[in-house]
Amino acid sequence: MENARSTIHGVWSKRLTFILAATGSAVGLGNIWKFPYITGENGGGAFVLVYLVCIAAVGISVMMAEVLLGRRGRSSPVTAMQTLTKESNVHGVWTGIGWMGAIAGLLILSYYSVIAGWALHFIVQSASGAFEGADSAAVGQVFDSLLADPQTLLGWHTLFMVMTMTVVARGVTQGLGRAVEILMPCLFVLLIIMVGYAVKLGNFSEGLAFLFKVDFSKLSAGSVLTAVGHAFFTLSLGMGAIMAYGAYMPDHAPVGKTVVTVAFLDTLVALVAGMAIFPLVFANGIEPSAGPGLMFVSLPLAFGQMPGGLFFGTLFFVLVSVAAWSSSISLIEPFVAWVVEKKLLSRVGASVVLGIVTWTIGLLTVLSFNEMSDHKLFGLTAFDLLDFITANLMLPLGGLFIAIFVGWIMKREIVRAELDAEPEGLFNLWYTVLRYIAPVAVLVVFAYPLIEKFSG
Ligand code: PHE
Repeated sequence: MENARSTIHGVWSKRLTFILAATGSAVGLGNIWKFPYITGENGGGAFVLVYLVCIAAVGISVMMAEVLLGRRGRSSPVTAMQTLTKESNVHGVWTGIGWMGAIAGLLILSYYSVIAGWALHFIVQSASGAFEGADSAAVGQVFDSLLADPQTLLGWHTLFMVMTMTVVARGVTQGLGRAVEILMPCLFVLLIIMVGYAVKLGNFSEGLAFLFKVDFSKLSAGSVLTAVGHAFFTLSLGMGAIMAYGAYMPDHAPVGKTVVTVAFLDTLVALVAGMAIFPLVFANGIEPSAGPGLMFVSLPLAFGQMPGGLFFGTLFFVLVSVAAWSSSISLIEPFVAWVVEKKLLSRVGASVVLGIVTWTIGLLTVLSFNEMSDHKLFGLTAFDLLDFITANLMLPLGGLFIAIFVGWIMKREIVRAELDAEPEGLFNLWYTVLRYIAPVAVLVVFAYPLIEKFSG
């Protein structure tokens, strides 16, 4: 059952290129900024354990399913889902997987870009020596005054959106490849250096205990949902990013090995970031539950005190910005690719229009840290609400539908033919996990808060 479709967006020459691009998408603010702060907010070890289990039991299987869908459809997620629903003879409503994903990506990018803007701002702050010898009050001051200043936030948000859309306009198969190839390993090495620093000067044992000592009494239903949502967010799952990249993956390349590599690297970066940040948090009397500022306050403190800190600090925020950049292009690529396929606009035109739409929605996030910080819905600011709706609802829901579609709707022979490089035993294991474990896990997590509520 050879797949005769081809893509108009270009195919990556090697499996390695897919690994780099997918890792570039997966490793981003989710690992370095979001993972530490939500771990802090959700009590540490037990939350980390649930997150790791979700990566292993749900994330990897859904990621394989996404690659398979993308490669078989050889087009943007929306068009791929159209082709595949026809192939499977089911109602077109399944195309909604593509649509919901494209919209989720756009919404995520709207706030992702604002946070990436913080990293850009911190490049300049580090380079200008603002953190030299600073104490936690002084670093906190730099962060707080940034959040209080909508104009500065807007400026950086605008710059980051322009950076993102420039790459997307040129086409992601040419895009950031080489830069990511060199800079991501640098980021990893720098994180290891920071762990070394945390061992020397932070409260390493307390930081490690917080991350890895499991205490289930600290885990609420809400925390479990956040952990599941984050497993999807950090692996770029449930919205078509990996599907879009899968469309550019060569036929017959092994999917399982590739996906496990990406998931492993992504998890490693998150854990190392946590091991660098929490020892500093405890040594400097910062609250682990301090929220979105956690990374931006703890690491500059270390840069301000360590030898060569001006250089390392500046480099660090450059690398974080690049990691965010290679993720942000994958957030909008599904939507752009669809507009281009429909011949509604050229690639450049689509990038400009969707960039402007995303930028405009991003204003909500810019303002939710200052002018609109008191405007809340269900007790959440616009930023928190966008984050909750996308990461905790839309991505897991997208993942659930993807698991059901590949596991229950597509013909087994087709699925098997796409995964022809996998040994029979591994294929069967994956297929079972995808059909039973992944959907049930997501459903239970969704239902749990309700069960908890009604059982009193
Ligand atoms: N995985 C990215 C990160 O961790 C964010 C992302 C989510 C990118 C969804 C694409 C799709 O930062």
